[in-house]
Amino acid sequence: MTKIIDLSVKEKIYKSKKAQISILNNFRLEVAAGEKIAIVGESGAGKSSLLNIVGLLDRNYSGEYTLFGSPTNQLHTSQLAQWRNQRIGFVLQESALINSLTVEDNIKLPFLYASPDKKGVGEIEDFDTVVSAIEIRHILKKKPLECSGGEKARAVFARGIIM
Ligand SMILES: Nc1ncnc2c1ncn2[C@@H]1O[C@H](COP(=O)(O)OP(=O)(O)OP(=O)(O)O)[C@@H](O)[C@H]1O
Ligand SMILES: [Mg+2]
Repeated sequence: MTKIIDLSVKEKIYKSKKAQISILNNFRLEVAAGEKIAIVGESGAGKSSLLNIVGLLDRNYSGEYTLFGSPTNQLHTSQLAQWRNQRIGFVLQESALINSLTVEDNIKLPFLYASPDKKGVGEIEDFDTVVSAIEIRHILKKKPLECSGGEKARAVFARGIIM
């Protein structure tokens, strides 16, 4: 199967004035296309730090990371931003929706930041597919504060996968 994530961290160091901590020592993660995984570990083990690395938010570590077949250490910051926009979906637990926007506009936010060459490509179809699959058509015109917890969670999820 095609490898989507191929990550090899030697070490991630957090430094402060007084102390330095080293996590993810000799850590490897391989994820194949279509594979679903859960990351489990005690508090402070490094799960969030790992997700920051996997999600291209943090490149300040020693190691190698190949994503979608491309070594990420060669990507420039603008390319990193483009990948985060178009190829990675984050679903956060809380306060991830913009309250002044409708659910529809929240879900469509990633389109707004897409590069010009990707703009408009299949947007309406993708939006429709996701809205039907997640069954949120009835809340599209609502603002997040008018939604239930589960409805908000589905809106966040829709936005996470829309690209
Ligand atoms: N910005 C930072 N500066 C210094 N140390 C940090 C920083 N962020 C995290 N750490 C430390 O790195 C270690 C890993 O933190 P991380 O947030 O990745 O853990 P986690 O597995 O997500 O924990 P939790 O289950 O509590 O969310 C912890 O010891 C934490 O104190
Ligand atoms: Mg965490």
